[in-house]
Amino acid sequence: MKMEYTTLGTTGVKISRIGLGAWQFSQAWGVTEYSTAREIISRALELGVNLIDTAMVYGRGLSEEFIGKALRELDVKRDDVVIATKIPGEFLAYDDVFKAVDKSLKRLQVDYIDLMQVHWPPCWHNHPTCEYMRALERLVVIGKINYIGLSDFPVELVDAARACLSRSDVEVLQVRYNIVERQAEKELIPYAEENGMTLLAWSPLAKGAILGKYSLEEAEQLEDVRRDDPLFKKENYQQILRVAEILKELGEKYDKTPAQVALNWLIGYSDIIVPIPGAKNPQQVEDNVKAVGWRLSYDDWRRLDEATKSLRITYVTW
Ligand SMILES: NC(=O)c1ccc[n+]([C@@H]2O[C@H](COP(=O)([O-])OP(=O)(O)OC[C@H]3O[C@@H](n4cnc5c(N)ncnc54)[C@H](OP(=O)(O)O)[C@@H]3O)[C@@H](O)[C@H]2O)c1
Repeated sequence: MKMEYTTLGTTGVKISRIGLGAWQFSQAWGVTEYSTAREIISRALELGVNLIDTAMVYGRGLSEEFIGKALRELDVKRDDVVIATKIPGEFLAYDDVFKAVDKSLKRLQVDYIDLMQVHWPPCWHNHPTCEYMRALERLVVIGKINYIGLSDFPVELVDAARACLSRSDVEVLQVRYNIVERQAEKELIPYAEENGMTLLAWSPLAKGAILGKYSLEEAEQLEDVRRDDPLFKKENYQQILRVAEILKELGEKYDKTPAQVALNWLIGYSDIIVPIPGAKNPQQVEDNVKAVGWRLSYDDWRRLDEATKSLRITYVTW
């Protein structure tokens, strides 16, 4: 398997076509042993992954800490890895942006962060958009952040945020995007394509729902972060299991796993899409990276396209 690479937005920075999501290094997902996290990171790097996506809130700093420690211990050259982290919507007062970034730099044990994304728009505090965007831009000018990204922002707010910047631009949009949750195709993907941005696809495996690895009964009994996830509720999960069957069938045809087929479908949709699947062990990393280096035929791609378009996923599950 040979990793494919693309560039991060308009920056010219080389990133792998599949990243590593690091929310798994938290109580939410259960990888709280440093040694497991280190193995996962090490295997990902060996296989050519150079983009790691984390966030301040993942395990309240635990994920960033594990990444910082592992990169140090594995003696990874700073230029060989692109670290993407996120500042939560609650930390966006001007001075708090600096304070939060200082803490993040410390946990990651680095002098600068490659990509700082605003994790979600401030909804409970009225932080003016230009206040936090200018704080981030100041950090770019000073050299503590290289690039800025926005996660879970609607396009109207992306426009407003970009208008605040004078010496830099938003290079990345991050959003939920997987084969059964395709809302990003309506506005965000076209916007990113038009503006030369990279779109980082989060939950690209629908948190495992599309892989058919859990029966309906098991899905309803998952005790981790998926416990309240609408995808795992009966009315949605029953439909998703039908997609899992197609992924399995196509996997057999191409000698690939369902995860590889699902991720391949995403990268086939647009060349700006970079999925960031999370992994709980090195085997899952190995599996996920093999989603590149080949493509589904157009007919098979369309088969999945049609099958998932006809789903009626609802978030009103209670
Ligand atoms: N910006 C945001 O708001 C936001 C939100 C969510 C996530 N994210 C980012 O996106 C990343 C990925 O999203 P996610 O963690 O929600 O979900 P995901 O990548 O769709 O699913 C990850 C889960 O699927 C299972 N899995 C992964 N690879 C597998 C394989 N090859 N075979 C079988 N099972 C496999 C694992 O769980 P089990 O083994 O337990 O089934 C794993 O924890 C996160 O780590 C994070 O960096 C960002």
